[in-house]
Amino acid sequence: MEYTTLGDTGMEVSRLCLGCMSIGTSDWRDWVLDEEEGIELVERAIDLGINFFDTANMYSDGESERVLGKALEGQREDKVVATKGYFQMDEDDPNSGGLSRKAIEQELEHSLDRLGMDTVDLYQIHRWDYDTPIETTLRALDDAVRRGQVRYIGASSMWTYQFADALHTSDALGLERFATMQNHYNLAYREEEREMLPFCEQENVGVIPWSPMARGYLTRPDEDIDATTRGETEEYLYEHPYREGGGPEVNERVQQLAEERGVKMAQIALSWVLHKDWVDAPIVGTSTVEHLEDAVEALEIDLSDSDIEYLEEPYEPVPVSGHD
Ligand SMILES: NC(=O)c1ccc[n+]([C@@H]2O[C@H](COP(=O)([O-])OP(=O)(O)OC[C@H]3O[C@@H](n4cnc5c(N)ncnc54)[C@H](OP(=O)(O)O)[C@@H]3O)[C@@H](O)[C@H]2O)c1
Repeated sequence: MEYTTLGDTGMEVSRLCLGCMSIGTSDWRDWVLDEEEGIELVERAIDLGINFFDTANMYSDGESERVLGKALEGQREDKVVATKGYFQMDEDDPNSGGLSRKAIEQELEHSLDRLGMDTVDLYQIHRWDYDTPIETTLRALDDAVRRGQVRYIGASSMWTYQFADALHTSDALGLERFATMQNHYNLAYREEEREMLPFCEQENVGVIPWSPMARGYLTRPDEDIDATTRGETEEYLYEHPYREGGGPEVNERVQQLAEERGVKMAQIALSWVLHKDWVDAPIVGTSTVEHLEDAVEALEIDLSDSDIEYLEEPYEPVPVSGHD
């Protein structure tokens, strides 16, 4: 396994982060692994040298955090665990969502309880809260760091102007600064290259993209998009604009290059993300040990500048997707 320093945190993370949206309970989504298989996946990831895990309070309504915490029991000291808050957790409690001080304090406590941890390494805001001033959110997060419940804070999909506002506010007030950006980025969705990625590079913010294989769209030919349970049932696969613009042509070129190199499409798609200097560690989603092993093997694929140009060439701008 390769390791890299996450942004300017000084913390070393594996170049692949295991995305834990696929573990928790199949009651939440058909394609999600239940506890036993979820634990097996995490254990295999550890065997392969992965030390970085990403979950969220909303994944499987909290079950993802619980299963991850259980899988890491007794061996969490040398792991880096990231979770997130923002989405409403209890439909009868409007304060179980958003980024008010009340929501952050409550939901962070619940996350730590489920994870079975006193401190989480990275606590991320899952989205921008238009109803809470960023100063209020940052003060609550800063206090969580001072209390020792959180080591670093991070953000996820938002507009670059919002992220710039957040960094400026924390700098001006001497508060903890967002150390990471978890954004939507893959060969079929590259809108983040306009503003967010160069901005993160300039600010030394660690970049940990979500859906690096376009939620599976770049792991099989376009015509087979619905060939798996997730492909058949996951609405986001169709809501994201992967098939707009040059998407199908990008998909075809991923296939061609994979055939030429004798590797899998998923490995070419992941390798492309890994070749981008502004990316620290893509967050890989899988529900099988075999696919996890494919991801680790992708670290060994070397793409030339002309391979990268060939893969990128058909891309055309698409509507922004992943945040409002
Ligand atoms: N911050 C946010 O708003 C946000 C949003 C979405 C996701 N995330 C995070 O990002 C993580 C990854 O997201 P994701 O699951 O949407 O994206 P992904 O990694 O782009 O795609 C996962 C899909 O690719 C398939 N796949 C993976 N490796 C494969 C292989 N070798 N061969 C064939 N198919 C393969 C998986 O199928 P199998 O299950 O069959 O392997 C799954 O359907 C999540 O777990 C979560 O932690 C964050």
